[in-house]
Amino acid sequence: MSRGKVVDLFCGAGGASLGFVQAGYEVVGAVDAYERALETYETNLCGRDLDEYEGSVSFNEPMRADLSRGYEDDDVDDDLPAVTFEDIRERFDLEEGEVDVICGCPPCQNFSSLRDTEPWPDGKPKDNLLKAYVKFIEEATPDVVFFENVSNIMNAGEEVATDYVDWLVRQMRSITRGGDSKMEGGYSHELRVVDAADYGVPQKRHRTIGLFVYESSDEEIDFPEPTHAEDPDDDREPWVTVRDRIHRDDLKEDLDLGQKQVGIDGYPDDPAHRARRHQDSTVEMIEAIREHGGSWKDLEGTEEKDLIKECHQKVDSGASSAYGIMEWDEPAPTMTTRCTNISSGRFTHPSEDRAITFREAALLMGFPRWFELPNTNHDAERVIGNAVPPQLVKKMAGHPDIRSRSIESSAV
Ligand SMILES: C[S@@+](CC[C@H](N)C(=O)[O-])C[C@H]1O[C@@H](n2cnc3c(N)ncnc32)[C@H](O)[C@@H]1O
Repeated sequence: MSRGKVVDLFCGAGGASLGFVQAGYEVVGAVDAYERALETYETNLCGRDLDEYEGSVSFNEPMRADLSRGYEDDDVDDDLPAVTFEDIRERFDLEEGEVDVICGCPPCQNFSSLRDTEPWPDGKPKDNLLKAYVKFIEEATPDVVFFENVSNIMNAGEEVATDYVDWLVRQMRSITRGGDSKMEGGYSHELRVVDAADYGVPQKRHRTIGLFVYESSDEEIDFPEPTHAEDPDDDREPWVTVRDRIHRDDLKEDLDLGQKQVGIDGYPDDPAHRARRHQDSTVEMIEAIREHGGSWKDLEGTEEKDLIKECHQKVDSGASSAYGIMEWDEPAPTMTTRCTNISSGRFTHPSEDRAITFREAALLMGFPRWFELPNTNHDAERVIGNAVPPQLVKKMAGHPDIRSRSIESSAV
């Protein structure tokens, strides 16, 4: 059967690519600038048998390149080549018009909750990577574009577009393929802030998802409805919880601090299931927090309140959930690029006096059990926190309306 062909721009370690594979697509190219993420991508998605899924990855190695099109991007090495879509097609041996779907999740740091959102000058996007992203779409003009971004790009998480989104939508409407008149072409869109927990991911994660379809009307884009809910009903299952995902026979819960699940009787080796070390005073504080509630704030007014002083000094600005303890029977909080640092959020294990391990974080992001992670803590956290949960992408891209758009055209 013919399957839609996907190129994943800003692919990271492949969370979104994996979702497309699970939804039955063929991922034919993937590009990012971050070396460790690309190594992780290659190990898991190019070097493995993905037969358990309907889709596939058809290349041996993702491409390392700068996708900023020469706009300034401080996060990328100056010596990396800035590529066009033609360069990408050449690298993956793709014909013009062969790509059905572009999956693109350009980072937009300007809209992270900790940055400013000062008004944009008219017509000028604040974020260069978004400009670059639109250039790639102009060159490739695929049938479908999948877009993911932080929720703040819709005003305060509401369904109201910011200038950033306004600009994107206007640009996408004006893109036409060679031969199409302005009246014919253009992308219609559906953009929504969704919670990944409502799509079966064991994590509360609010993100803006955009589906753009060439030459259709907005009404024709049927956005997939949630499949899970806090209050389930006939159409929706209960949210998947932390317990459902990480309380399992193949993970040793009571790891010693600093211990890795390697060479432990009765458990498969898993170097990513490694517990960080904490100071004795931190463990004391976790125990006290657990006894009095679930957050450092619960120590206020108790005999152990002095423990707050020490921890409070280390609290990241704005992180009121710092040192919080996860609940077993709820979805996890949003996994960030600091998701195994207990000073950065509610990342303490529900019953053990330690941060969650990298494996536990990856499972809560919806990565499969076999997914290998970088060996260094910083890189492991970064690829997990940056990812789009594969399950969320699978639900979006696997929706019959979206899937048929790309499959129809690749069958022609
Ligand atoms: C939100 S993450 C994408 C996550 C990925 N889609 C996934 O699901 O795992 C954004 C990615 O953009 C990459 N990136 C940032 N600036 C870039 C640039 N100028 N060129 C290429 N990649 C860039 C980062 O390395 C990061 O992996």
